[in-house]
Amino acid sequence: MIVVHTKKELDEQLAEWRQQGDHIALVPTMGNLHAGHVSLVELAREHSERAIVSIFVNPTQFGEGEDFEDYPRTLERDTRRLKQSAADLIFAPDVETMYPFGLKDATTISVPRITENFCGASRPGHFDGVTSVVARLIALVQPDTAFFGQKDYQQQLVIRHMCLDLNLPVTIMTGETVRDEDGLAMSSRNQYLTDVERANAPVLFRVLSAVGSDLQNGRRDFEALEAESISKLSDAGFDVDYFSIRRAQNLEIPDRDCDELVVLAAANLGKARLIDNTVVTI
Ligand code: PAJ
Repeated sequence: MIVVHTKKELDEQLAEWRQQGDHIALVPTMGNLHAGHVSLVELAREHSERAIVSIFVNPTQFGEGEDFEDYPRTLERDTRRLKQSAADLIFAPDVETMYPFGLKDATTISVPRITENFCGASRPGHFDGVTSVVARLIALVQPDTAFFGQKDYQQQLVIRHMCLDLNLPVTIMTGETVRDEDGLAMSSRNQYLTDVERANAPVLFRVLSAVGSDLQNGRRDFEALEAESISKLSDAGFDVDYFSIRRAQNLEIPDRDCDELVVLAAANLGKARLIDNTVVTI
């Protein structure tokens, strides 16, 4: 496995692989890798001869007062971890490589509407930062396929929208959420939880799953289900940002006979912002 930092080094390696006719997959990450990231790498390798993992803590997707400074940067550990996986190359660029005109003169890509609610509402500008950096990574790597996690459900929908709308020549694939044994979705931010909070954190997925079962069993009083869930989470000590049942396809409000729903939630537990979801196909 190779680690490169510059566009030149990346281009040289890509040229060699393209000449061999290899299909190239990209797994964009911000590092501090866990089994969720690694599962995307394994999925990428099932679909392509080469898997590239980008590691870049993207400044433009963090809001003021968010954890950009504190976000764990663990390139050495990540490299060791990926050496034991199917990854072929780590691309770990610096800010100048990703934003050659500097952050102030950087082009922004902004997807409307689907970015307005949920994480977009609580984190203004966040999705503009995500789409802008993902578009740049796709332009640099020119992968055949790029992989994203279902855990960030809204993010993968926004990225799909951008790629379709701009006709970017890449296929987007989504990998399932990897969880700890007790159901908590793996996340780099889980390390902000204290021991007591960590023991409580799986309640989020339990409440999501209970709503998933209620929907499967025919309940359609969406607003009541949302309100009940918010109280359960508040009672368990979560500060709920949103808990919502939406159309899986586009996050719009569903009607009773919508047969593909997503239950989305974000909640703070102490210093950690936890997000999770479950998709319900009826
Ligand atoms: P990051 O949070 O590092 O996540 C990288 C990828 O891993 C994302 O596609 C995310 O959805 C996926 N992922 C995270 N936790 C997961 C889990 N438990 N199971 C499966 N997949 C999981 O998301 C970002 O970085 C950034 O916004 C990025 C897309 C890299 C743009 O900067």
